[in-house]
Amino acid sequence: MSIFSKIKKAFKSSTPTPVEKVVPQAKKAAPVTAGPVLAATPKESSPKEVSVLLNAIKERRTIYSLKPELPRGVTLEDIKEITQAILKDTPSAFNSQPNKVVILTGEAHKQVWNQVVEAIPTEDGKRRPQSAADEAFGTIIFLTDDAVTKGLQEGFPAWAAAFPDFAVTSNGGVQISTWTALSQLPGFGAHLQHYNFLKGFLGDKIGENWTVQAQLVFGSKVVEAGEKSYNDNAIPVITDL
Ligand SMILES: Cc1cc2nc3c(=O)[nH]c(=O)nc-3n(C[C@H](O)[C@H](O)[C@H](O)COP(=O)(O)O)c2cc1C
Repeated sequence: MSIFSKIKKAFKSSTPTPVEKVVPQAKKAAPVTAGPVLAATPKESSPKEVSVLLNAIKERRTIYSLKPELPRGVTLEDIKEITQAILKDTPSAFNSQPNKVVILTGEAHKQVWNQVVEAIPTEDGKRRPQSAADEAFGTIIFLTDDAVTKGLQEGFPAWAAAFPDFAVTSNGGVQISTWTALSQLPGFGAHLQHYNFLKGFLGDKIGENWTVQAQLVFGSKVVEAGEKSYNDNAIPVITDL
């Protein structure tokens, strides 16, 4: 059973899905590329769905204390399927889709992180990558394809300077959405890292033009995240200048 069927089944068994209310479909933006346009599925956009999403955003936390196994009932295929869905639907400049993801586990995960440890000179600096090697089940590596950015720069020279930032922005969307979605799996824990030089340890497993942007180190959560402090960051609404 796919992870989406599992989620649907769990959701169905606890909540009846309202079917009678038809919500008008939002206007679709014109597609940038030629080709068949998939029909958008009409969706219930109820406040309940919004609160489910907001709760998931709130519940995503940095979890450093991990065990090198998957939570019960979760498969690597589930992790891949969820990440794949996010990779597909994350927006990007001009719909250029510069994002790439690879998942490391098993010996590959251990070897890469052990090489990161070796490359770091200080004992203190080795601690985090050593915990990734020993205490995590896997790593989701987020990358951008520089060839896509270069193509955009050539195609749209007026925007050339902006495209590298656009690619990183879009990649950040993939990172945080993936972290948020996976954190909804009971027992899943992860922390985000930036040992981007580990590209050198991946050899020809990734594209030559790909740049590593971040790593989500994941496994089974051992200890919940502690309290988090928040800045007072009220949003002003400006109606007159
Ligand atoms: C863009 C970004 C970069 C981050 N880089 C690191 C990192 O390199 N190492 C790390 O341990 N945590 C990193 N974090 C995690 C933050 O420290 C963490 O999200 C923050 O303290 C808030 O805690 P929370 O994730 O539990 O909400 C990063 C988070 C973001 C969004």
